[in-house]
Amino acid sequence: MAKCAFIGLGIMGYPMAGHLQAKGHEVTVYNRTSAKADQWVAQHRGRAAPTPREAAEGAELVFMCVGNDDDIRSVAFGEDGALAGMAEDRVLVDHTTASADIARELEAAAKEQRKHFVDAPVSGGQAGAENGVLTIMCGGEQAAFERAKPAMEAYGRAVTLLGPAGAGQLTKMVNQICIAGLVQGLAEAMNFGMRAGLDMEQVIGVIGKGAAQSWQMDNRAKTMVQGKFDFGFPVEWMRKDLKICLEEANRNGALLLITALIDQYYHQVIKAGGRRWDTSSLIHNLQLLD
Ligand SMILES: NC(=O)c1ccc[n+]([C@@H]2O[C@H](COP(=O)([O-])OP(=O)(O)OC[C@H]3O[C@@H](n4cnc5c(N)ncnc54)[C@H](OP(=O)(O)O)[C@@H]3O)[C@@H](O)[C@H]2O)c1
Repeated sequence: MAKCAFIGLGIMGYPMAGHLQAKGHEVTVYNRTSAKADQWVAQHRGRAAPTPREAAEGAELVFMCVGNDDDIRSVAFGEDGALAGMAEDRVLVDHTTASADIARELEAAAKEQRKHFVDAPVSGGQAGAENGVLTIMCGGEQAAFERAKPAMEAYGRAVTLLGPAGAGQLTKMVNQICIAGLVQGLAEAMNFGMRAGLDMEQVIGVIGKGAAQSWQMDNRAKTMVQGKFDFGFPVEWMRKDLKICLEEANRNGALLLITALIDQYYHQVIKAGGRRWDTSSLIHNLQLLD
């Protein structure tokens, strides 16, 4: 069992840190809004620290799960940042979905201080975090990954090293590119079926056992039909992720034709008030076209 720090107790981080503590690791948490850290401590009987630096002091493994590149910089770097609190040879693991550039920047900063870094974005959503069954895509050195892997298995069902620093983030980009077009296809199909007057619950039950089956169909088709979007993976996070994908594609020359279009469709959802709606709210655009 390891002494761990967990920084960022949002929708994802809160249950992930809870799984670490439940598996017997000794966890100290930090959250910018301290009330959430207090709530976590009351629920899980761990400890809270007032800064990322103090959370990281004495920890063998330091985990972060915040919003974007800038948020990572504000908790990892500087006088009160996690790196400043970590002793030499300790491992910093970042679960934020962010750019491959920030992963490389963090690894370089860690190396300079004789510390280690693993980028480790996750897939599986809020339910995956709460049930401890996330897919974790990692980048970094093998030895650092091996040291962090057993702890990550407290909330990860598949924890895999895919290459050097940044490879986890690049894999997460592939994941998001797969999802973007698929969700639009699912939205168009559900909208079509509804307009055709079909019993969509029955349709989903039938085609969900055939070649059209997907995680999105299993978990989002019914709520799409019901127009329920106040849960799940927020559109504003998806747009942040797609921006990262499009910027990376500008560098590597990949064509993201559909992905770029879907990014615009999500922009429309946000204009309709859906910033915090689940990504399945793409169907809302189609219903506005009447
Ligand atoms: N939600 C999902 O289904 C899902 C699925 C896969 C991946 N992800 C990714 O996982 C990451 C976290 O997502 P989430 O849904 O847990 O987000 P969230 O609920 O909005 O939580 C964000 C966390 O980061 C902290 N934070 C943000 N900016 C900060 C800053 N500048 N300084 C210090 N702390 C800061 C927040 O602190 P406060 O409490 O003070 O605001 C909060 O603890 C994101 O990169 C997201 O894309 C999310």
